Amino acid sequence: MRIGNTHFRSIWLADDPGVVRVIDQRKLPFEFELMELTSLDDACYAISDMVVRGAPLIGVTAAYGLYLAALKSQAKNWCDELKAAADKLLATRPTAVNLKYALDLGLAELNCTGTREGMIDRLFHLAMALAEEEVKRCRMIGEHGVDLITECYEKKKAPVNILTHCNAGWLACVDYGTATAPIYKAHDEGIPVHVWVDETRPRNQGARLTAYELGEHGVAHTVIVDNAGGHLMQEGMVDMVIVGSDRTTRNGDVANKIGTYLKALAARDNNIPFYVALPTSTIDMNLSHGREIEIENRDAEEVSHMPGWDDEQMKSSRVRVLPSGSDIVNPGFDVTPSRLVTKLITEKGLCPATEEAIRELF
Ligand code: MRU
Repeated sequence: MRIGNTHFRSIWLADDPGVVRVIDQRKLPFEFELMELTSLDDACYAISDMVVRGAPLIGVTAAYGLYLAALKSQAKNWCDELKAAADKLLATRPTAVNLKYALDLGLAELNCTGTREGMIDRLFHLAMALAEEEVKRCRMIGEHGVDLITECYEKKKAPVNILTHCNAGWLACVDYGTATAPIYKAHDEGIPVHVWVDETRPRNQGARLTAYELGEHGVAHTVIVDNAGGHLMQEGMVDMVIVGSDRTTRNGDVANKIGTYLKALAARDNNIPFYVALPTSTIDMNLSHGREIEIENRDAEEVSHMPGWDDEQMKSSRVRVLPSGSDIVNPGFDVTPSRLVTKLITEKGLCPATEEAIRELF
């Protein structure tokens, strides 16, 4: 996707095959910095500290992390080292199932009776292929999802207002994004779209990342505080909601960034379609209900302090926003029950959020 006039992906292999480059998402939109990952520890740090984030990108980073672990492994113990590396990567973040999806693919390649060199080669090709596959899946989500926007535009004959939560854009994936893929496609085809961007406290992925992406691509958008969405829906200013997912269970329950559930409730109360765009790599067929999903509890400092850009000092800054004695709880995700989901938008097409329809996708 575009930043200025340059096409970027969120992760790529450098000319040196021992170096993986990522955009440091903690610094956007104020500073554009790349980070080089050259080891398992680098990959683990990048995921757990949210240098990279978003379900598909977490998975692809883990696949590269396993490859980097193989590259650095000792000649004798490489197989044991790789199993431990997979465990370490898996422990970085609990909710997005793409992490496990990618590591399971890597572990399926593990052949402890083969050579270390052969293993490095297989993990290299796996990471590259997974990145390409996620790009293709997101592109196809755009192809399928754009019809929903086009149909709305043809009825309305006015710009289509889409509300989105968090960042389910190309920064969360490798390219195109999930929720944003139909939006970019519609925009590129000349359909007038306007996006309501939830700021998405506490880390503000909407205000910082989605607004940045949409702006760079020239898509009309307006940032709103998280609590504004319901009011805008009541005022007839939202035509549809499109969000992403970190893990969707086989009955169609959707875990996504905290606050998604409230938007689904408001959408239902106002008869507004609520779509969830996701690649099939985000569907967890092992879980039958959303209550089985592990919800990440994140650091209290994400709530007590706000990072931002100090215009006067021209540098990033951080301020406390609540009294130091208050207790804080910070769940990172919530579960939207399948009954509130109008349709899933996957790379294989649109489908109802039901177990029967999801099984048919596979
Ligand atoms: O905590 P994050 O920033 O990794 O959470 C990301 C989200 O919740 C996205 O909406 C989700 O990964 C779907 S995006 C492809």
